[in-house]
Amino acid sequence: MAKLTYYGHASFQVETAGTHILIDPFLTGNPAAKTSVDDVTADYILVTHGHSDHIGDTVAIARRTGAVAVSNAEIARWLSKQGVETHAMHIGGGYPFPFGYVKLTQALHGSSLPDGSYGGNPGGFLLKLDEGKTLYFAGDTGLFSDMRLIGDTGLDLAAVPIGDNFTMGPDDALKAVEFLRPKIVFPMHYDTFAMIEQNVAAWKARVEAVSDAEVMLLNVDGSVEI
Ligand code: NI
Ligand code: MN
Repeated sequence: MAKLTYYGHASFQVETAGTHILIDPFLTGNPAAKTSVDDVTADYILVTHGHSDHIGDTVAIARRTGAVAVSNAEIARWLSKQGVETHAMHIGGGYPFPFGYVKLTQALHGSSLPDGSYGGNPGGFLLKLDEGKTLYFAGDTGLFSDMRLIGDTGLDLAAVPIGDNFTMGPDDALKAVEFLRPKIVFPMHYDTFAMIEQNVAAWKARVEAVSDAEVMLLNVDGSVEI
């Protein structure tokens, strides 16, 4: 069992065996977020790419909590310069952390940092928790057919963007579910801003009509055991 909490947009916390893992903690300036940057707990912070709606509050949270930020080498270096403890990785590589194996996966997107620095290539994260669950956070990405290979891992949950414009939209995200074959799919990166508004209820119905995946919807700050 792992506990998943949703902070809105593409921000999550995974709690596994007492370890708190944040993914893309964008709370300050996130119109969908309710949790304050001062209230969140973290031992690790996984950052998919450099855009401000993903790297978000990583520096502030890491400084307060001492959490280790995990990202590509370019973003890790940028965070390290700001006093954040980091673990640098790169795409295709994985590492056995104390809570499980984390692999940095590819994403089709950009990754410039908030100050314009080069943020390397964007990514996603595949988490094989020691507790036994396998979770995939796609990050911001367009559809790519190698999602099939990620699906071969056997996913308990896949979080995929559906907002369109900056990432996959509903049609491509439906194809992504077909490639990934997760037990649970969690749609993200929609409705935060007007440009990415989507009818998530309609998308849920479409996915559940053509696949075995359960589409999970959580209110902001909602949690679920998976
Ligand atoms: Ni982005
Ligand atoms: Mn984004």
